[in-house]
Amino acid sequence: MVRTKIIATGHYAPEKVLTNYDIEKIVDTSDEWITERTGIKERRITPTHQSTSYLAYEASIRALRKAGLSGADLDLIVVATISGDMPFPSTACFLQGYLDARSAAAFDINATCSGFIYGLSIANCFIRSGQYRRILLVGAEILSRFTDWEDKTTCVLFGDGAGAAVLEPTTGESGIIAVDLYSDGSQWELINLPGGGSKNPSTQETAMNRLHFIKMRGNETFKFAVKTLEMLAVETLEKNNLAPSKLSALVPHQANLRIIQATAKRLGLPMDKVVVNIDRYGNTSAASIPIALDEAVENGRIKEGDYILLEAFGGGLTWASALIKW
Ligand code: ACO
Repeated sequence: MVRTKIIATGHYAPEKVLTNYDIEKIVDTSDEWITERTGIKERRITPTHQSTSYLAYEASIRALRKAGLSGADLDLIVVATISGDMPFPSTACFLQGYLDARSAAAFDINATCSGFIYGLSIANCFIRSGQYRRILLVGAEILSRFTDWEDKTTCVLFGDGAGAAVLEPTTGESGIIAVDLYSDGSQWELINLPGGGSKNPSTQETAMNRLHFIKMRGNETFKFAVKTLEMLAVETLEKNNLAPSKLSALVPHQANLRIIQATAKRLGLPMDKVVVNIDRYGNTSAASIPIALDEAVENGRIKEGDYILLEAFGGGLTWASALIKW
């Protein structure tokens, strides 16, 4: 049976660090509140002359280098992002150009924080159908540009970064075992960016009303996320007859440490099996899982043959999980 295997990963985050103490000078908040309620201590901020495709490129060349490949070897490039360079062309097309990946088709997907797992599902289908053999999947975000720096309820949460994975077919034991995707568009109002699209085209008024920034009903989102992710993690493992104790690592989307801890507790997983880097990056939406994954592989926490579970939740609403044998 053909499976899809992640053969290499890479990540990139801009150098500039914005700490909770820096944000205390911008809005009425405190390091204590942010740390206790979210687990975030600092996040990365991209310089104004760079855009999302740049972060995607830096993460991609790191992943390609580890795979021993170049852009010319790629059949498809998929970028998961909600903060792309422009409404169009896609950020994936910019990336395709930078990588000189002449044989590759390229497109973006928007599934907010679940974007990387949605992308895994797309890559898995293309590879297993035989249409493409080598796919570059990237999650890349510059959320700092869409953050309302006057709104203390959201500006403390988000950060910038990118993570990339190279996928290939394999007939071996390792690879993607299952991917589950879900959505509930009736709850779109919980998290959204209302301005700039066809519903609220950009005008002076939309700018004055701050509609070009992320809006979130945090507490309602929090409760929905905890309930949904706990259920999803249990269901994914049960469907695949894998006891939680067999998992070597849970790699969750990094939105809130308390949400991550709740899922781990429900699975009975000790926190040393949970990959957490929210303290250093905040919520980087579609980039959060591939950044965490690459760090965990780099520092030896994920090794060949390990079972790992990825799970994410975000605006849309969307949520998703992926069970992988590394
Ligand atoms: N500093 C200080 N006080 C604050 C801050 C802040 N930065 N933000 C909110 N508060 C205050 C509120 O005003 C409120 O005050 P009040 O009680 O006087 O009214 C109080 O803190 C509690 O506010 P809540 O919103 O109830 O706080 P909560 O414990 O829910 O934490 C948070 C807020 C961190 C946003 C949490 O709800 C959360 O993480 N939500 C889920 C986020 C998520 O998963 N998003 C999905 C992905 S995002 C995407 O798709 C782009």
